Amino acid sequence: MKTIAVLTSGGDAPGMNAAIRAVVRAGLDKGFKVMGIQRGYSGLINGEIFPMDRHNVADIIQRGGTILRTARCEEFKTEEGRKRGANILKTFGIDGLVVIGGDGSFAGAQLLSKLGIATIGLPGTIDNDLSYTDYTIGFDTAINTVLDAINKLRDTSTSHERVSIVEVMGRNCGDIALYTGLAGGAESIIVPEKGYNQDELCRTILEGKLRGKMHNLIILAEGIGGAEKLAKKVQDVTGIDTRATILGHIQRGGSPTCMDRVWASRMGYRAVELLQEGKSGKVVGVGNGQIIDMDIDEALAMPRKFDEKLYEIAKALSY
Ligand code: ADP
Ligand code: F6P
Repeated sequence: MKTIAVLTSGGDAPGMNAAIRAVVRAGLDKGFKVMGIQRGYSGLINGEIFPMDRHNVADIIQRGGTILRTARCEEFKTEEGRKRGANILKTFGIDGLVVIGGDGSFAGAQLLSKLGIATIGLPGTIDNDLSYTDYTIGFDTAINTVLDAINKLRDTSTSHERVSIVEVMGRNCGDIALYTGLAGGAESIIVPEKGYNQDELCRTILEGKLRGKMHNLIILAEGIGGAEKLAKKVQDVTGIDTRATILGHIQRGGSPTCMDRVWASRMGYRAVELLQEGKSGKVVGVGNGQIIDMDIDEALAMPRKFDEKLYEIAKALSY
């Protein structure tokens, strides 16, 4: 293998740039020619490919977003689209590809590996929704962004003795809500993995007020959603002034935390090592504090585990 390439796909995540930098510099260090592909699979199909050197990735480790841009590409979900992508890679002499993205991007990478391109996936998503790895690039930055917002909302909620409902991202995964709910001292955490009962929630809020709570903070995962509607319901039932805040895409930006930069660098380096070893159809991740790798098929087939213990702890500590 002489030439490798890297792309970012799906939703961006802070730390993707650190991963790109690691792939490029590790690749060059190991004697590969390294190419960058812009706009994910869409750019691949359109041949948006350029050579990368050390300078292309200078001054990016601290930046959010992705210098390669990202995209969602329906055409790549078709056999024809993927064949076009594989042919483009062959035309550019690229034999190995590192895909930084979430489970959708990995599904594409897996199919590409079956067309003769060595592919390695790196978990890049704020959602932390990939079962095979304890950690995804961007999650740590996102939860710290949410925590900062929660701290600020707590100030104003306390002053006004209000209920504050904060809706956070995470698609069908409640990890962002769970971690920030615990760390932010939320009274209630609502995640798709557990569901919730509105009457019970209102009762908890009223009981909290009777015990002297000055505010009530509820973290709601987008997988359940409906923050505005819920705020109205809570206000109607409890009589307590209630506000909803949907944090939205602010959670996807910002300078990556140290943790995101370090894991992204380690995983990027490992991806290049795997290509050097002639491996394909693998994903890199973190297990028990160590870098791991696994077949993409196996990784995608793993059922998601919700951290019941963390949920239990958050609940017990919220009174
Ligand atoms: P993420 O990678 O963050 O989960 P998406 O699910 O949007 O984001 O997937 C990103 C891109 O990966 C899609 O736009 C598409 O190009 C490709 N992709 C997703 N699912 C598949 C699939 N089943 N087969 C081939 N390509 C896929
Ligand atoms: O997967 C990351 C994520 O930010 C999810 O948390 C959210 O549901 C989705 O992407 C939003 O996607 P878009 O960028 O299309 O608004």
